[in-house]
Amino acid sequence: MKILSIVGARPQFVKEAIIQSEINKFDDIKEVVVHTGQHYDDNMSGVFFDVLDMRKPDYNLGISASKHGEMTGKMIIRLEEIMLQEKPDVVLLYGDTNSTLAGAIAASKLKIDIAHVEAGLRQEPKDMPEEINRMLTDRISQYLFVPSNLGVENLKGEGITEGVFFTGDVMYDIFLKMKPSFDYVLMEKLHLKENQFIIMTLHRDFNVDIPEKLEKILKEVNRISKEIKVVMPIHPRTQKRINEFGLSHLITDITVIEPIDYLQLMGLTQNCYKVITDSGGYQKEAYFSGKQAVVIMPDTGWRELTDLGLNTLSDENNIYQNVMKAKKAEYIKDIYGDGKAAEKIVSILRIYK
Ligand code: UD1
Repeated sequence: MKILSIVGARPQFVKEAIIQSEINKFDDIKEVVVHTGQHYDDNMSGVFFDVLDMRKPDYNLGISASKHGEMTGKMIIRLEEIMLQEKPDVVLLYGDTNSTLAGAIAASKLKIDIAHVEAGLRQEPKDMPEEINRMLTDRISQYLFVPSNLGVENLKGEGITEGVFFTGDVMYDIFLKMKPSFDYVLMEKLHLKENQFIIMTLHRDFNVDIPEKLEKILKEVNRISKEIKVVMPIHPRTQKRINEFGLSHLITDITVIEPIDYLQLMGLTQNCYKVITDSGGYQKEAYFSGKQAVVIMPDTGWRELTDLGLNTLSDENNIYQNVMKAKKAEYIKDIYGDGKAAEKIVSILRIYK
């Protein structure tokens, strides 16, 4: 069997890493990896391949653009060429980025089966780019690998029942696998003490692209940083917006650092007090680490965690209040499977293809 895996953005490298290590166990599977180039800075891309022990992508398309249509369109053109040349049995797609959607469109027009890892997630607002990407990809996938029971229910509600497999979450797999290698060096470098700092990540367009909203968020976090240290590995998009909107004065009390790799982020998370984030994956990694995340979003694809009172959704006006009042999260076992999602995904593909 030949699998063509498509990745492009940071969270996809993490998911591909665990699938790749599973595929490597079988001589009868050949995997071709395409990196679209959506994330291109070394600290957003190359470093992940290094620390997660992945082989270099077979193709790197070097496509990135600020406009969604331009980026997705260019990717479709190149991915179609590669699919025609490689003739894979199945195209493996991850999550909800523009790289995911481009892969789905190219494969479906060539009538190549699509397997979607992290299928079934749904969240408001329906017009956010990630929601559009995952809904459309789910519609045209033949294999839908779902990380949680709620995802299965979401798909059922949309009439999608065929090809749906509850496998658990590949991000939980990799978290367990890499835990012994988590990197704690930043604790010392940044003079951090256990339970006495907050980690914040921010990058969603609806949070960072509107000046008034970004200003409100940063004001709230600035207030928090007067009481407890806040460490912010900054996404390039957010850094650009802070500069453009003249908001740099609001982050002077925050420990702003360059984007860090997976092992470093997990190392910090093991020791932090809480997490503030608008990342889909990171709110769940906080939970794996037994920490509470205050999620700056109107809704979340990981609703199990907010329904159970583990994580808290927050708007831009209540971040301080939510961070201060929220109770400590209790870990509940097995919401996202048993740490063997990648194994299940690969064995399902071997049986059915
Ligand atoms: C993308 C995904 C999002 C995912 C996130 C993880 C889409 C629609 N969104 O959002 O689901 O949670 O990745 O980070 O696909 N940039 C750099 N260097 C880089 C990467 C990006 O400077 O290495 C700049 C880009 O040029 C662009 C901005 O950051 O101006 C945003 O990048 P983009 O890939 O469009 O979306 P993300 O916000 O990263």
